[in-house]
Amino acid sequence: MIQAAFQTADFTAESVEDNDTHVLQPLLDRCEDYHQIAYGRPALPDQARNIPRERPPTLAPGQGHLFALRDAQGGLAGMLEALRDFPAPEEWYIGLLLLAPEARGHGRGEAVLNAYEGYVRANGGRLLRVAVVEHNEVARRFWTRVGFQPEQWVGPIEQGLRWNRVLKMTKTLSPA
Ligand SMILES: CC(C)(COP(=O)(O)OP(=O)(O)OC[C@H]1O[C@@H](n2cnc3c(N)ncnc32)[C@H](O)[C@@H]1OP(=O)(O)O)[C@@H](O)C(=O)NCCC(=O)NCCS
Repeated sequence: MIQAAFQTADFTAESVEDNDTHVLQPLLDRCEDYHQIAYGRPALPDQARNIPRERPPTLAPGQGHLFALRDAQGGLAGMLEALRDFPAPEEWYIGLLLLAPEARGHGRGEAVLNAYEGYVRANGGRLLRVAVVEHNEVARRFWTRVGFQPEQWVGPIEQGLRWNRVLKMTKTLSPA
């Protein structure tokens, strides 16, 4: 079933169930630039299908959230992957916010984040965290501009073909 979890002027965020994650593969394939930065290679052919298996093994059912961002025509324009109450209650972790290349640079990422913050607060989240790869300067600028602050450097950790240092960044959400 299709559920609209949150909305922006341009996009509707639809929940993607664990059995349906392959629908995101065309988007991952179109975002080779991001995968080169993060993993040193394009997306793998089964990468979308494997999203549920890549989550931390300690999660309870329902803690993994995955959204397809659809435009007014129903086209796949982006995705948001997150974990609720991870690693601690009321702390939510954004694994990936990814917009199709042609959707970037119009403030839509910020609009998605604003709408998602409302959804998180309404569901009891008080803090958002994201981990940004050191050399992903566009992303670091984005998260800083939308109010995230550096928390901690970790790594280098092995990601695909790369060893990355990553910066954990956090944003405290005002109460709903
Ligand atoms: C990171 C990401 C989600 C940001 O989304 P976005 O919609 O491009 O972000 P914004 O439009 O808010 O900002 C991008 C640029 O457009 C500019 N911009 C913002 N609003 C704009 C508008 N209305 N018109 C034109 N440009 C605008 C911003 O100033 C920004 O430029 P700057 O960073 O050089 O200052 C997107 O770039 C993306 O998917 N990147 C690849 C994946 C990735 O790295 N994700 C993060 C990993 S954790």
